[in-house]
Amino acid sequence: MNGKKAIVTLMVLFVVSIVPAFGQRKDQCYECHATLGDKASELFKGDVHHQKGISCAGCHGGDPTAEDMEQAMAPATGFLGVPKGDAIIKVCARCHSDRETMEKFGSELPVTQASMLEGSVHGKASVTGGQRILHCATCHTSHGVVSVKNPKSPVHPRNVVGTCGQCHSNANLMRQYNPSLAVDQVEKYRTSRHGQLNARGDVNAAECASCHGSHEIRAASDVKSTVYATNLPLTCARCHSDAVKMRPYGIPTNQFQLFAESVHGKALLEKKDLGAPACNDCHGNHGAIPPGVESISKVCGTCHALNAELFSVSPHKKAFDAQKLPECETCHGNHKIVAATDELLGISAEATCSRCHSSGKNAVGFHVAQTMRGLIDSLENAERLAAMFVSEAEQKGMEVSEAKFKLRDARQARLQARTMVHSFHEGQFREVVEPGLKVASFVQREAERALEEYTFRRVGLGLATLIITLFAAALYLYIRRIEQSQSDRRK
Ligand code: HEC
Ligand code: HEC
Ligand code: HEC
Ligand code: HEC
Ligand code: HEC
Ligand code: HEC
Ligand code: HEC
Ligand code: HEC
Ligand code: HEC
Ligand code: HEC
Ligand code: HEC
Repeated sequence: MNGKKAIVTLMVLFVVSIVPAFGQRKDQCYECHATLGDKASELFKGDVHHQKGISCAGCHGGDPTAEDMEQAMAPATGFLGVPKGDAIIKVCARCHSDRETMEKFGSELPVTQASMLEGSVHGKASVTGGQRILHCATCHTSHGVVSVKNPKSPVHPRNVVGTCGQCHSNANLMRQYNPSLAVDQVEKYRTSRHGQLNARGDVNAAECASCHGSHEIRAASDVKSTVYATNLPLTCARCHSDAVKMRPYGIPTNQFQLFAESVHGKALLEKKDLGAPACNDCHGNHGAIPPGVESISKVCGTCHALNAELFSVSPHKKAFDAQKLPECETCHGNHKIVAATDELLGISAEATCSRCHSSGKNAVGFHVAQTMRGLIDSLENAERLAAMFVSEAEQKGMEVSEAKFKLRDARQARLQARTMVHSFHEGQFREVVEPGLKVASFVQREAERALEEYTFRRVGLGLATLIITLFAAALYLYIRRIEQSQSDRRK
């Protein structure tokens, strides 16, 4: 037999062999193996493939119509024996990657599993002998395969954690492939709200596959990963913005929406700024619980270190702890954190301070809030005024580059002051604002001096021109006079 003929023969045999039930003939493979009472045929009773009338030969090849063992399992009939490793993916893909074959069984399942697996982190060649890390049967088993919606499926939400965990909690195994990968995901996951609900059999809570996907799982650092920072908020939102799914729990479903409108969400989702937090930066990757009162400033503090440091030694630390108030969230919120403005500071209605401080209640803080706002307003005004003078001087062509450069120090002081608010201490606040005010007034003076000089020069020039003109006129008259007297004398 030449190669082409062999392939055609095998194809025909394959199509004939996979559906013996349609040919009204018994599946001799199963018949014989069932009498042998082996594990494979025992498990196969409940297998979804068995229920679809697929023979053992559907995966193993061979002639399912032959009663004779030698004949049934003859290599010429396409018998594969026991497939191993990557060969298993090929076996499953023969049907699961072929729309036509699946349609013959009346199936509308997607036919993308094998191609997705190939592109995934698990589809990479493994270190042990060039085979892929995983094949289809690793997650689905080979006999006793059931629908993924069946609670007995190893990938059903109730069991998937164990299926992933058999490798991801096994330090020895993981070390062979990627020694830097942590092996604590399951352990951490079990401490989370998701993990606790999952352990109780709640299928709505996130499990490994709801965040990472199934066949298409990618490394967290891969931009296409469902847990890559810019994709993650939408991964969480699939459940957390689904009002129907979340109804039994009675928690809000607006986290994504609020986050998307926040300064963090805009930075991450619109500007693709990876320095801004995604949901997991505040909630943890696997320990997704709302950060406790104690941990929230630590969470914000991982990025806003200075603010957190100042807060931790401020008078609010003790006061907030006593009232069990979260440190940053009390003033800034959590999901919809907006750009901070001076409006948050002071004693006006929109200022955060006036929520707790008034002339009658916590009055010291009230006065400090008022003073701080006054100071930061003066600094801003001084800076603006100085900038105005500098730009006027520049327009008039005066040399003010040094003063203009110094103006940066005033701006720097203002930025520092916004952070220094978190000391909630007037003295410390003055220490950054006052040098800023000094710089601003110095710059203003320099610019004013330049303008004065300009005026002086203009006036000087005018006077000089006048004097010269007068002098020229006088000279002219004088010369005329001399000429006159000379001509008079000649006469
Ligand atoms: C008449 C009985 C009989 C029939 C029919 C039969 N087998 Fe077998 N099969 C056996 C026996 C016996 C063994 C050997 C058992 C052992 O080695 O433990 C075996 C072994 C196997 C093995 C394991 C091979 C290995 O290398 O370990 C597979 C797979 C298998 N059969 C599949 C099939 C398929 C598919 C068909 C139908 C196309 C089929 N069998 C038809 C009796 C049968
Ligand atoms: C959906 C595909 C599929 C079908 C259908 C299937 N098998 Fe298998 N079988 C496999 C795969 C894959 C392996 C390799 C298992 C592994 O390495 O994890 C295997 C392994 C085996 C083995 C080796 C020992 C073992 O249990 O792992 C035997 C024997 C076997 N199959 C017999 C059968 C018989 C008999 C039937 C029908 C009753 C059958 N298989 C139906 C995919 C299938
Ligand atoms: C890493 C584990 C894993 C591997 C490997 C794996 N699957 Fe899956 N599979 C899953 C999970 C988890 C689901 C459930 C997905 C869901 O509910 O969204 C699933 C679902 C399915 C489904 C149901 C339809 C669908 O696409 O959701 C089929 C069919 C399937 N897998 C076939 C395969 C085939 C064929 C292979 C090999 C090419 C394979 N699987 C490899 C985990 C795996
Ligand atoms: C002969 C074709 C064929 C082969 C080979 C095959 N399957 Fe299937 N598989 C099917 C059909 C048909 C269904 C039923 C689809 C349906 O109900 O829509 C199915 C269903 C499944 C399901 C259940 C999907 C669900 O949730 O409804 C899984 C999982 C699955 N197969 C995995 C595998 C694995 C793993 C292999 C390889 C070891 C494999 N299949 C080999 C045809 C095949
Ligand atoms: C057969 C063992 C095995 C199973 C089962 C398994 N994995 Fe993996 N997984 C690995 C190995 C090994 C790697 C490391 C690959 C590498 O880095 O080269 C990996 C990598 C990953 C990564 C990428 C980690 C990173 O950021 O670099 C994720 C995410 C992941 N697996 C999730 C899962 C999930 C979810 C499941 C269950 C649906 C699962 N795995 C099942 C062995 C397994
Ligand atoms: C609520 C969503 C969520 C669930 C549930 C989840 N993960 Fe993750 N996983 C993440 C995020 C987010 C990352 C980290 C992304 C990053 O580093 O930027 C991650 C990272 C990983 C990594 C890479 C190494 C690491 O620890 O950072 C592995 C491996 C992994 N997860 C496996 C699992 C396994 C196994 C399960 C099931 C026990 C699981 N994950 C459940 C969201 C989840
Ligand atoms: C598969 C759906 C699903 C996905 C995906 C999911 N969650 Fe959840 N999450 C839930 C359910 C259900 C609860 C339980 C709500 C409850 O008990 O109040 C929950 C609870 C939480 C809680 C605790 C809320 C509370 O106060 O009880 C937090 C925080 C949380 N999730 C964050 C996240 C983050 C962050 C992500 C993405 C990395 C995520 N979740 C992805 C379904 C999901
Ligand atoms: C900047 C930090 C931060 C980010 C980013 C963040 N959260 Fe939160 N989240 C919190 C804090 C703090 C709480 C606690 C609220 C409380 O107890 O008052 C919380 C509470 C929750 C809750 C409990 C229910 C509720 O609304 O109070 C869920 C669910 C939740 N977050 C999901 C998410 C999701 C999904 C994302 C991404 C779209 C996200 N979070 C992004 C800080 C954050
Ligand atoms: C008592 C209210 C209050 C608390 C508590 C608070 N802030 Fe602020 N925060 C403010 C005010 C008011 C401003 C605006 C100052 C301005 O612009 O004049 C501000 C501004 C900011 C800014 C922008 C200015 C800068 O430093 O870049 C950041 C970032 C910030 N806060 C982070 C935090 C963090 C992190 C925490 C917790 C450690 C926290 N805040 C706690 C009131 C508060
Ligand atoms: C992963 C790092 C990260 C975490 C965690 C984080 N932030 Fe931010 N935050 C940023 C970045 C980056 C920006 C600047 C975004 C932009 O405007 O481009 C920002 C901006 C802000 C601003 C506006 C600053 C301004 O100049 O107006 C405030 C207020 C703020 N964050 C408060 C918080 C609070 C409160 C928390 C904790 C609940 C927190 N952040 C957690 C990175 C983080
Ligand atoms: C959630 C309530 C709350 C908010 C909001 C708040 N404070 Fe306070 N503050 C307190 C409490 C309680 C104390 C301790 C009681 C006291 O000393 O008056 C305190 C103390 C202070 C003190 C120390 C007073 C002293 O006795 O030395 C200052 C200063 C202060 N706050 C300033 C501010 C400023 C400025 C703001 C706005 C940016 C602000 N606070 C917002 C509750 C708050």
